[in-house]
Amino acid sequence: MTTINRNYRKLQGSYLFSNIAGKVAAFSQKHPEAEIIRLGIGDVTQPLAPAILKALHRAVDEMGDAATFHGYAPDLGYDFLRNAIAREDYEARGCQISPEEIFISDGAKSDCGNIQEIFGTDNRVAVCDPVYPVYVDTNVMAGRTGEFDRERGNYRGIIYMPCREEEGFVPQLPQETPDLIYLCFPNNPTGAAITRERLQEWVDYANRTGAVILYDAAYEAYISEPKLPHSIYECEGARECAIEFRSFSKNAGFTGVRLGFTVVPKSLKRDGAQLWDLWARRHGTRFNGAPYLVQRAGEAVYTPEGKSQLAGQIAYYMENARIIREGLAGAGFTVYGGVNAPYIWLKTPEGMKSWEFFDYLLEKARVVGTPGEGFGACGEGYFRLTAFGDRENTRRAVERICRL
Ligand code: MLT
Repeated sequence: MTTINRNYRKLQGSYLFSNIAGKVAAFSQKHPEAEIIRLGIGDVTQPLAPAILKALHRAVDEMGDAATFHGYAPDLGYDFLRNAIAREDYEARGCQISPEEIFISDGAKSDCGNIQEIFGTDNRVAVCDPVYPVYVDTNVMAGRTGEFDRERGNYRGIIYMPCREEEGFVPQLPQETPDLIYLCFPNNPTGAAITRERLQEWVDYANRTGAVILYDAAYEAYISEPKLPHSIYECEGARECAIEFRSFSKNAGFTGVRLGFTVVPKSLKRDGAQLWDLWARRHGTRFNGAPYLVQRAGEAVYTPEGKSQLAGQIAYYMENARIIREGLAGAGFTVYGGVNAPYIWLKTPEGMKSWEFFDYLLEKARVVGTPGEGFGACGEGYFRLTAFGDRENTRRAVERICRL
């Protein structure tokens, strides 16, 4: 008889954002007249920049001509895109990353989820709390955790690293030694950033203990403070202990286009193997490459026009972040984030539970956000709003919340 992967039974309900979408759909059905403003999932609202559209159109025309048609993309990505990334995202910041070490994919969410597959199931995993749920859920699915502990509100077998308000939502080095450490900076959901010195401590720790850091830098384009690191490879020794994930979703509006990449340095070795080899093997076996059109669109992100248009888009979202942050702070809320990240992390008023606040906001203000508890036990008592809405809706949402 067929059996299933029983680890799936350990999962709690549905994926956080699917759960929220379901609740909002049910509310809409009950209140068809309600004008709901969605600041829940971090999905962009601004259209693709003209330089990207131009590249897409050009690539579509190429696909219609036998002389320039492209079939399967190379396993690990087209050189034109890998070269542009190596030059603009790494060399320009003094990081030594070669185009060969860059693996093009359909997005950082899949890469963050898939990467655990090249590691043994006996590895101990450490995550921040609160945390982007993909890191945890994919390790649950793989069998790297025990059951969900209802009392604690998290999974047995995972090392949770609390990110506390009084410590700027940056975790301390864990007491128990993990094998895999997920870090995300600028952080989703708290919007916190990490300094180069603090990140260097993590790199030194990983090199000392033999752990591997899985560094999610999907929000690096939102860093506004000049000294903060955009890549973990700005730290000495990171080539020996870190894998980095990047996305085109947030910096270039590709949430519906799908493109991302993962950096695996060739000098990163564990258990007698080069991790680059394993990831290349996995990529080649399971993935047929991001579409040519999309990789050409990605290349346009690094052109002078692309860069200047996207800087405008990021400034637009960060102005939304300012409006939310200052508006809510003015109304007496305690707010964090929104300076180096497109997320505002606020404390729920009067000690409300975060799902309670979710219902209250939806009911009374018709605004959707994300309950902190959805990101982990330490997210209880907090609530996330995204700056990715359009300006008008962002202003209206803030007005509605402030009027409550
Ligand atoms: C979020 O809202 O946390 C993100 O949009 C989720 C994602 O990027 O997958």
